[in-house]
Amino acid sequence: MQFRNNVDENLHPMNGRSILFSLLILTIVAVACHDNPYKQGELYYTNLCANCHMEDGGGLELLVPPLAGADFVRDHPGKVACIVRHGLNGKVVVNGIEYEGEMPAVPELTDFEIVNLINFINNAWGNDFPEVTWEQVKSALENCE
Ligand code: HEC
Repeated sequence: MQFRNNVDENLHPMNGRSILFSLLILTIVAVACHDNPYKQGELYYTNLCANCHMEDGGGLELLVPPLAGADFVRDHPGKVACIVRHGLNGKVVVNGIEYEGEMPAVPELTDFEIVNLINFINNAWGNDFPEVTWEQVKSALENCE
């Protein structure tokens, strides 16, 4: 009798037990990802930005402005997208300090990758800046100055 039950269960994949099992897996995945939902963005940051802006986003003295706790990043998500794509040259003021350096463009990132990158930055190092959407970044990139 026990044996027959097992066979029936196997024939019906969405029985109670397998639904519970799926929920369990989903929960594990959700908990595992909660830690850092922007892993892809973090990878881009480490490979393409950390050299200058440092692992902790703190920048480098008066040569490279910070991204951690930066009012510029908080207030201008569209400009951040443009800076990544086209670079930056000339004066920029971050947290009241004027920087005048040169940042090379990073043209290899797609719009989507830039979204992930910005969302990583906006949530890293204690930053609690609003999440950017693909639509926002796409339209900013179409209108870079
Ligand atoms: C070669 C060094 C270098 C690299 C690599 C670099 N930056 Fe920059 N970044 C700078 C410098 C220098 C400035 C200031 C430019 C100026 O004064 O006009 C800057 C400015 C910025 C700004 C605007 C000011 C601020 O701090 O809020 C943002 C945002 C930014 N960078 C993000 C990034 C991101 C994201 C990456 C990786 C995709 C990156 N940068 C890679 C050197 C670099």
